[in-house]
Amino acid sequence: SRDVEADLSRILITESEIHAKIAELARKIEVDYAGQDLLLVGVLKGAVMVMADLARELHLPVSMDWMAVSSYGNSTQSSGVVRILKDLDSELQGRTVLIVEDIIDSGLTLSWLLGNLRSRGPASVEVCALLRKPDAVRVELDVRYVGFDIPNDFVVGYGLDYAEKYRNLKDIGVLAPHTYS
Ligand code: PRP
Ligand code: MN
Ligand code: MG
Repeated sequence: SRDVEADLSRILITESEIHAKIAELARKIEVDYAGQDLLLVGVLKGAVMVMADLARELHLPVSMDWMAVSSYGNSTQSSGVVRILKDLDSELQGRTVLIVEDIIDSGLTLSWLLGNLRSRGPASVEVCALLRKPDAVRVELDVRYVGFDIPNDFVVGYGLDYAEKYRNLKDIGVLAPHTYS
């Protein structure tokens, strides 16, 4: 068997740092949405781990729904072309929506998604993203909750993939260049 950890050049954020940050974000969200029914919209597939952990941290009545969009395919570069692979099951009319994302890289996925969801008549749509790459962002975005700002390296783990691999790593790490060049 191959040791996938050997494909990382370094660990960027450990499992315990991730969980501490998610708890911190959950405390803010609980204050901001006190007394409201929140619809968490997880963006498949990258957001599965954040969604699972954030939802369980929140002491609020939440529903969970999922949208599958993809802009990367098997490349390390965003194409900017967003495809809907699976739409929401829920109607958004009048709903209080929080999009849950693993990472904002160029911001193109989220920019497109915000426009798409806001056109469905929700009461509000905000964003919670565990990671953001300030040096890679290509569009202006108002993101209410951000876990970590990180350098512009290709990161994997905790839901984040390269060619569908590494999503199951507990830590977030930088992919060693030899694995994709
Ligand atoms: C990744 C990541 C975000 C998006 C961020 O998803 O999970 O959804 O790219 O990139 P951007 O800010 O440059 O648009 P991806 O398209 O790889 O699909 P996945 O979640 O199934 O891995
Ligand atoms: Mn994604
Ligand atoms: Mg991906």
